[in-house]
Amino acid sequence: MRRDDLIQHTSAPPLLEIRDLSLDFGTPRGRVRALRNVSLDVPAAQVVGIVGESGSGKSTLAYTVMGLLSENADVTSGSILFEGKDLLKIPARARRSLLGDRLSMVFQDPMTALNPVRTIENQMIDIQHHGQGSRSEKRARAVDMLHRVGIPDPKNRLGAYPHQFSGGMRQRVCIAMALLVKPALLVADEPTTALDATLEVQIIHLLKDLQTEIGCSILFVSHHLGAVAELCDRVAVMYAGEVVEQGAVRDIFHNPAHPYTRALLECDPGRIKKSTRTLPTIPGEVPSLLGSTKGCIFRTRCPQAFNRCVQEDPVEYRIGVDQVARCHLLGDERLVPA
Ligand SMILES: Nc1ncnc2c1ncn2[C@@H]1O[C@H](COP(=O)(O)OP(=O)(O)O)[C@@H](O)[C@H]1O
Ligand SMILES: [Mg+2]
Repeated sequence: MRRDDLIQHTSAPPLLEIRDLSLDFGTPRGRVRALRNVSLDVPAAQVVGIVGESGSGKSTLAYTVMGLLSENADVTSGSILFEGKDLLKIPARARRSLLGDRLSMVFQDPMTALNPVRTIENQMIDIQHHGQGSRSEKRARAVDMLHRVGIPDPKNRLGAYPHQFSGGMRQRVCIAMALLVKPALLVADEPTTALDATLEVQIIHLLKDLQTEIGCSILFVSHHLGAVAELCDRVAVMYAGEVVEQGAVRDIFHNPAHPYTRALLECDPGRIKKSTRTLPTIPGEVPSLLGSTKGCIFRTRCPQAFNRCVQEDPVEYRIGVDQVARCHLLGDERLVPA
C-alpha cells in the first residue's frame, strides 16, 4: 500500500457516527430519559459491542439506529451519520429503503423477525427485493446462505415454515436473511441470549466468519461479556442511558477505567475464579431515568464516589490512545472524598 493510500485509509470516516444522541420516552409518569448524550463510532468492517445491565438503553440505541422506535419515543438531540447521511434527517421513505439493504438487523427472538405463516423460501426471496436477478437466482442465493449458516439439507428445508425449525436453527435462518442482502451494517440485539451456551458459541463464530467474508460492520448488543470479548473489536459500556466507557476490547477488558466497568467485569461468571454458590451482583439498583439528573449517574452505587460526583457531570477523559471514560476519578482536581 502506498503511503497516500494509507493516510486516506486511516482517515476514512466511520461507517456509523452517533453524536450526542439523547432520547426520551413519554410515559404517564413523566419523561424517561433512556439515552443521554450518547456518542459512538462504528468503523467500517469492525464489530462494536454494547454491554451493560438490563435497562441501560442498549436496545433503545439499537432500535434508534434502525429507525424502529415506538410512538412515544422523542429524540431530543444529536445525529446518527450513516455513510455520511444523518438518519434522523432523511425522509422516512429513504430511511425505510435502507433497511434490508445497507442496514439489517438480527433480533433477540427470531420469531420477531420471521413471519410465522410464510415459508422460509418466500421470506428469503422477498428480502432480496433490492437485489438483481430472477426468482430462481434469488432462491439459489437463499439456499447457499442457509448452507453457510449451517442449516442441514437447505434445498429441502427452504419450503418449511419458521415453527418447523428449532430455536437455534431459527436464529441461523434470521442471520442468513440479515446477511443475504450484504448490508454495510448489521445491528444485532442480544442475538444469542435466547440460546444455550453451546449454540451461543456456534452463532458467535458464525457471525465472525460471515462478517469477515462480507466485510460488513456489526453493532453487537449483549449483556454477555464473554461473547463480546470473543466477537468484538471495540466495546461501549452503557449505564442508565449513558456510555460511561468505550475503547478497544482488549483495553477495556484488561484495563477498565470506570468503576462501573470494573464492577461489571467482577460480576462476570466467566471471570470468577473462586468457587461460589451465589453469583456476585453490583450492589444497589439502576437509578430511575425519570427527569433530569445532576452529577455522575453511577454515584449512588459507586464505592469511590466523592463530592464532585454529586455536584458535576463527569466529562469524557482519554486513557491511552483509544479508550475514554466518564469518571471524575480520572480528572486531576479531586476534591475531598465524601
Ligand atoms: N417504549 C418505551 N416506553 C417507555 N419506556 C421505555 C420504552 N422502551 C424502553 N423504555 C425504558 O428505557 C430504558 C432502557 O430500556 P432498553 O433500551 O430496553 O434497555 P436494555 O436493552 O439495555 O435492557 C428502560 O428504563 C426501559 O424501561
Ligand atoms: Mg435490550
